Amino acid sequence: MGPGENRSERLLVLKMKIPLVCIAGALLMFADSVFAIEKRAVIIDADPGQDDAIALLFALGSNQLDILGITTVAGNVPLDLTSKNARIILDWSNRKGIPVYAGAQKPLVRDLVTAEDVHGKTGLDGVTLHEPPGKLAPGHAVDFIIRTLRQNPPGTITIGLLGPATNLALAMTKAPDIKSRIKEIVMMGGGRFYPGNITPVAEFNVYVDPDAANIVFQSGVPIVVLPLDVTHTALTTPDRVQKLRDIGNLNGDRIADILTSYSRHDMEKFGLEGGPLHDPCVIGYLLNPSLFDGKQVNVMVETKSDLTLGQTVVDWNAVTDRKPNALWITKVKADEFYALLTDTLSQLP
Ligand code: BDR
Ligand code: CA
Repeated sequence: MGPGENRSERLLVLKMKIPLVCIAGALLMFADSVFAIEKRAVIIDADPGQDDAIALLFALGSNQLDILGITTVAGNVPLDLTSKNARIILDWSNRKGIPVYAGAQKPLVRDLVTAEDVHGKTGLDGVTLHEPPGKLAPGHAVDFIIRTLRQNPPGTITIGLLGPATNLALAMTKAPDIKSRIKEIVMMGGGRFYPGNITPVAEFNVYVDPDAANIVFQSGVPIVVLPLDVTHTALTTPDRVQKLRDIGNLNGDRIADILTSYSRHDMEKFGLEGGPLHDPCVIGYLLNPSLFDGKQVNVMVETKSDLTLGQTVVDWNAVTDRKPNALWITKVKADEFYALLTDTLSQLP
């Protein structure tokens, strides 16, 4: 084979490679745009709160969520603290450009009940806190929710609810048109098989603002509920906490410290083997719903009785003719959930 033939072969190979490179490039661009389309646009409403903090970091560490804003509500601690904590958490994540809006200072019609006994005076006991550099976005959380839902195509925005449902109920009451624009509400709240953590039959988020939860359940919007039934099966164990610490980044350490303080309370109070990761289940569901299992049921909230205020009345056996209004989650693949949490948190500083 002469030198000329070699050259023409090389040219031929080169000619074949160029289209291949172009095709690969085009495929990559296509994959990029597909992934961009698959990002779920979400507003996260929270009352941070130790498990809220882990949930927010879980969401902020993922590239699958387009977080349009974080809205805060009074719950675990008063609004000034939940709003400050949300900004601290955002700063920990080093994510820029996500606004934090402060919302309701108290439930719709009742006095605020807080949970410093669980989350500590600051709401984020267990770690050192700093003055967050980011300011609150101007305006009220409720107006941000309404505006964002109206400005975006219907059926594109998910609401992740990690605290009492006050902000969302206020938004639905002020602007009923937004209900048909919400893609889905994924919320932590309630309990049926594990009925209560604040009263014998009520879970904290629903108990704090049962009237708001009732408005949300009656709204007709598709709802997914992560109740105590499932969150109490997603327990922190020493091994799981160690894996979070072993990530070796600042946030892994912080979360392990928060969980050590947080788990102690639930282990002592409820005789559990670890702390239940309530709010992170919402983010786990948003990132990988196939880890969870549940059933479509009708849910109503008790708003009148002193004895059973805030109870979620779940028609599990369809003994009424009330139409299902929520997907009630009862199972999670806990090991896979913790693996996803650990992996996602490793993307943070
Ligand atoms: C819920 O109540 C709060 O204390 C937690 O943050 C969680 O949202 C659990 O009942
Ligand atoms: Ca919460």
